[in-house]
Amino acid sequence: MSWLGARIYDGVMRVAERRHIAAWRQELLVGLSGKVLELGAGTGANLGFYPKGLKRLVLLEPDPHMRARLQAKLHSGHLAAEVSEASAESLPFADHEFDWVVCTLVLCSVRDPEASLREIHRVLRPGGKLAFVEHVLDPSDERNRKRQRRYQPVWGLIAAHCHVNRDTRASIESGGFKLGRIEEQRMSIGPRIVRPMILGVATRSSI
Ligand SMILES: C[S@@+](CC[C@H](N)C(=O)[O-])C[C@H]1O[C@@H](n2cnc3c(N)ncnc32)[C@H](O)[C@@H]1O
Repeated sequence: MSWLGARIYDGVMRVAERRHIAAWRQELLVGLSGKVLELGAGTGANLGFYPKGLKRLVLLEPDPHMRARLQAKLHSGHLAAEVSEASAESLPFADHEFDWVVCTLVLCSVRDPEASLREIHRVLRPGGKLAFVEHVLDPSDERNRKRQRRYQPVWGLIAAHCHVNRDTRASIESGGFKLGRIEEQRMSIGPRIVRPMILGVATRSSI
């Protein structure tokens, strides 16, 4: 993400947050407990939704411009969290260290979603949970899927390597997680290629 991208991120997302995403963050994060790891925490859009009393909260953000904004938000609030610059594909944590991993609008951006999910699986305890909100390859509209595939090369360039053509639900399931709660949603604003969303909670298998 460029300096400018990080600077305008919250503003660009504002209407989508108000209409949809903030409510999804709230729904998913309210029940978290124990040790929590968030990947690609960005400018800290989830900070206001974490419940009090977590045992540990670690926020990963490899991009220096996004991380600077995340740290500024943390300093101006009351939430205690550790910040790391590590990437999802190589997590500097022991096996089974966390009770929850949080990914919101991140699996679309990571370089390697399968490697990231392997790492998430490794650092979660057996029975640990992955909470996610992601925009995805359209599950029900073939025309939009074609559009997403067609525009991906351009979209990736203008949106900091974001992918609109990823079947993240399938990747989560084949990564050793059992989908518990899953909702398919469609945002009412923004380019059609980013409107299809999934949100939910998946449980790490015990092996
Ligand atoms: C679209 S932003 C989402 C930010 C935030 N999670 C949110 O919900 O608003 C994607 C974030 O993923 C981060 N990111 C990109 N590649 C990553 C990787 N390999 N590992 C972890 N985070 C990554 C980016 O730096 C960026 O902050």
